[in-house]
Amino acid sequence: MNKIPLHVGIIMDGNGRWAKEKGLNRSEGHKAGGKVLEKIALYAKNLGIKYLSVYAFSTDNFKRSEEEVNNLMDLLIYYFKTKLDTICKDNIKVVFSGRTCNLRSDVIEAMKHIIEKTKNNTKCILNICLNYGGQEEIVDACLKIANDLNSGFLKKEALNRETFRKYLYQDLPPIDLLIRTGKEHRLSNFMLYQNFYAEIYFTDTFFPDFDEKEFDEALIYYNKCDRKFGDVKNN
Ligand code: IPE
Ligand code: IPE
Ligand code: MG
Repeated sequence: MNKIPLHVGIIMDGNGRWAKEKGLNRSEGHKAGGKVLEKIALYAKNLGIKYLSVYAFSTDNFKRSEEEVNNLMDLLIYYFKTKLDTICKDNIKVVFSGRTCNLRSDVIEAMKHIIEKTKNNTKCILNICLNYGGQEEIVDACLKIANDLNSGFLKKEALNRETFRKYLYQDLPPIDLLIRTGKEHRLSNFMLYQNFYAEIYFTDTFFPDFDEKEFDEALIYYNKCDRKFGDVKNN
């Protein structure tokens, strides 16, 4: 593999359908998805991928039943608590993107804990999008920009696509490769600003069946892409 993307995004979709196919309940699907994320995050780190952004829970996922939402939040807390040592050992820094306002206080506490414990890690950044919406992120950035313009901290002339980035939830480079599992071909409000020139790999595989081999497939796909960024290349 000659080109390793700097930033990979994953829309981890298909947990519910995977469970249904097996006659299990949806939370079993989420549990199985969690295990896959653990493997893939480690694999990506070992390949030298510096930034991995994963879609764990969207703002729109609050439309689901209270039972499913609570199960998902419990699962996230379980992971943050039990995987902390491994994440630290692997030198992974965990950050979050999303709105904390309507999250449960125990979820917020667990998030703060993992942020604090991993803040000095340097090998790679795992950005977990939790209660995240891409449009919400852009609106929230605009509100912060409006404040800074009003106070004079930011000059209108200084605003461009790079400086805008600093007002997003995390100051991350653009996504180079976006992977979406689970058959659907859409963005579902995931990192709209950061995906502006992402190469997109869609797979029918439900996330609990996704593995290192298929991650390699996505990288092979990425290596074949002719990234032009609007320019003209003579092939
Ligand atoms: C993705 O799997 C995980 C979350 C959205 C939290 P889904 O739960 O959306 O699974 P499907 O799409 O119903 O199969
Ligand atoms: C996107 O999946 C959100 C996450 C993977 C967390 P959804 O299942 O919520 O997306 P839609 O509803 O199919 O667009
Ligand atoms: Mg889904």
